[in-house]
Amino acid sequence: MLSVPQGEFVLQRYPLSKDPTLRAWDAADEYILHHLFEQEIRPSGRWWIVNDGFGALAVALHGHGPTSQTDSLMAQRALRQNYEANGITEFGLMVDSLSEPDAPLDVVIIKVPKTLAWLEDILCRLKPYCHQHTQIIAAGMAKHIHTSTLALFEKYIGPTRTSLARKKARLIFSEVDSAIALKSPYPKSHRLSPWDVDISSHANVFGGNKLDLGTRFLLENLPEEAEAKVIADMGCGDGSLGLIAARQYPQAKLIFSDESYMAIASARQNMHACFGEHTNATYLVTDALEGVEASSVDWVLNNPPFHQQHAKGDDIAWNMFRSAKRALKTGGELWVVANRHLGYHAKLKKLFGNYHHVAANKKFVILKAVK
Ligand SMILES: C[S@@+](CC[C@H](N)C(=O)[O-])C[C@H]1O[C@@H](n2cnc3c(N)ncnc32)[C@H](O)[C@@H]1O
Repeated sequence: MLSVPQGEFVLQRYPLSKDPTLRAWDAADEYILHHLFEQEIRPSGRWWIVNDGFGALAVALHGHGPTSQTDSLMAQRALRQNYEANGITEFGLMVDSLSEPDAPLDVVIIKVPKTLAWLEDILCRLKPYCHQHTQIIAAGMAKHIHTSTLALFEKYIGPTRTSLARKKARLIFSEVDSAIALKSPYPKSHRLSPWDVDISSHANVFGGNKLDLGTRFLLENLPEEAEAKVIADMGCGDGSLGLIAARQYPQAKLIFSDESYMAIASARQNMHACFGEHTNATYLVTDALEGVEASSVDWVLNNPPFHQQHAKGDDIAWNMFRSAKRALKTGGELWVVANRHLGYHAKLKKLFGNYHHVAANKKFVILKAVK
């Protein structure tokens, strides 16, 4: 139960974690809610919350009708679930990370994201909608707030200061300097060699605008030819895996799935740039392969995440493997690249009854399971 001056709220993560120590809010959420109450910050007008992990801020502040902006479908599902669990039937909009406000903003609350890149993009996108009196307050755990974090606020918004730490959390306050008008440097492009393709990535896409070494290893170990007719790039990020597969296996129809709106926008953009707009591909902002017809896919390619927000765990990988099994045809193959120490072979064996060790190097292993 989250207990703050705005009330007591039942909050759950989405998806539910098997780790009971993981809560749906943190001390930074509590700090900012106390601060808003103590400082009597409650102007009428437009409230905008960015990157609210599981909805703690939007639920507690629902009376202001805040718009909640996130890049994560799972965060949106968490928020919807938590509105419902608290009997909140009137609430603000939920928008994705690429949406722009349609009016000036009066209060902007930012939960400091994991990457500086996304923070930079958030600040650039929101600055034009801030006016002299817009209250801009960010919150995060002190260990995630660095000099470089504050430098971004100074650069893109204006004079910035921080609060004292409370329960290891900190707040950031920025004043709007109307002379600043900088554009987001995202999406950024890089060249994928040796495949000679340009890949563009929005700010919050995995890989930080370069090809992940594990992904490269999987690409280098895919067979030169294959007969797969339907290939899913599950958790596709910028879509590099699926895009190279589409080039290598021109007969295949591609499915790109990710829970990140920026990932799917990037994958779509990259496929269009490479093959034109009428490619034989589907793009899904979804959980793993939810929404893909059961027993319809020949291959699933996957470099699973091992974080949800700041928490490590194997829940997402499990969920992805189960989802892949459902989507695969009998005889279909799940190809997984992962850090060796994660021990995913045991999970694949348990789920599929088999796994093949395709290749390994010092850091990564490629495993294949057949349905
Ligand atoms: C390790 S990254 C791999 C990205 C890309 N395939 C690559 O190899 O560069 C894992 C990806 O899974 C996505 N992801 C995390 N949870 C997911 C979920 N429940 N459903 C779909 N995608 C998810 C992340 O957004 C991220 O893009």
